[in-house]
Amino acid sequence: TIPAYVKIVEVGPRDGLQNEASPVSVQTKIGLIDRLSAAGLPVIESGSFVSPKWVPQMAASAEVLTGISQKPGVVYPVLTPNMQGLEAALAAGAREVAVFGAASESFSQKNINCSIGDSLDRFAPVVTRARDQGVKVRGYVSCVLGCPYEGDINPAAVADVARRLAEMGCYEISLGDTVGVGTPLKAQAMIDAVTAHLPVAMLAAHFHDTYGQALANILGVLERGVAVVDSSVAGLGGCPYAKGAAGNVASEDVVYMLHGMGIQTGIDLTKLIEAGSFICDAIGRPTGSKVARALG
Ligand code: HMG
Ligand code: MG
Repeated sequence: TIPAYVKIVEVGPRDGLQNEASPVSVQTKIGLIDRLSAAGLPVIESGSFVSPKWVPQMAASAEVLTGISQKPGVVYPVLTPNMQGLEAALAAGAREVAVFGAASESFSQKNINCSIGDSLDRFAPVVTRARDQGVKVRGYVSCVLGCPYEGDINPAAVADVARRLAEMGCYEISLGDTVGVGTPLKAQAMIDAVTAHLPVAMLAAHFHDTYGQALANILGVLERGVAVVDSSVAGLGGCPYAKGAAGNVASEDVVYMLHGMGIQTGIDLTKLIEAGSFICDAIGRPTGSKVARALG
């Protein structure tokens, strides 16, 4: 049955801005994150402790994390691909982190420079050390409905990586359609493959909107009971290692759909649209949200 409350995980400051061609200042990122918390977002992914050679846009994540006004009850996770990233995140005061694997070997190589198996071996001590520090860990699986290099991905491969991330101690597994190629029945079949091993309450859906399928896919997985949805204000973003990938589904569009269905999110849509205008003005781009265009 469709959930009564959906937790929105706002990934714009990370998944969105990691892909911006021109640098975005620390002050602008802080301004965006503080506006998102004021709009009622419960989780705001705020940066990435990755190699600045690989993703220069995330280089100042420590300054961002220490510069924001942390609102009580809001979590501000950051990505940590290895122990070096975790230590830097802990030093910056991160209270939640995320490791990110893939269901596709080629994407794993391009994104984090190692095989799926090696990445899981690398994540295990990161998860253990984070949890020892009282820091929760989210696990991502990329390319769950297709890979830019390999094409179709077997749902069993997704289920396998998801299960292994859960076994190592990730509390939530975000299933990413990195390239946005999925369609609703395939999204449901993928969820079914994963829920054969894991409770649906552990799962999050992370759809990019490259082919305009994201809202339909979200509705498809809501029908399977998924109650955590990743989205990006103004539809910011893409992925540096998935050519042509559009941004995540726009948060404004997801919130409008959910509220229209009577599903609670705790988010103030007007304030969310204002946060979207703020970042679009700052980076000189039109919004990717249709709802923001209609109501703004
Ligand atoms: P590597 O080159 O294999 O790493 O990269 P290494 O351990 O051999 O180290 C090489 C150099 O990187 C060294 O520096 C390290 O210090 C440095 P040097 O001695 O050459 O000066 N280094 C680091 N620096 C800062 N922070 C670190 C770090 N680790 C090593 N944590 C690595 C491996 C994973 C580091 C690299 O491939 C990387 O940073 N990849 C990041 C890729 C990325 O951020 N992708 C985007 C996020 S994933 C995504 O968007 C998908 C998602 O949204 C879900 C979906 O849509 O599907 C989550
Ligand atoms: Mg993504």
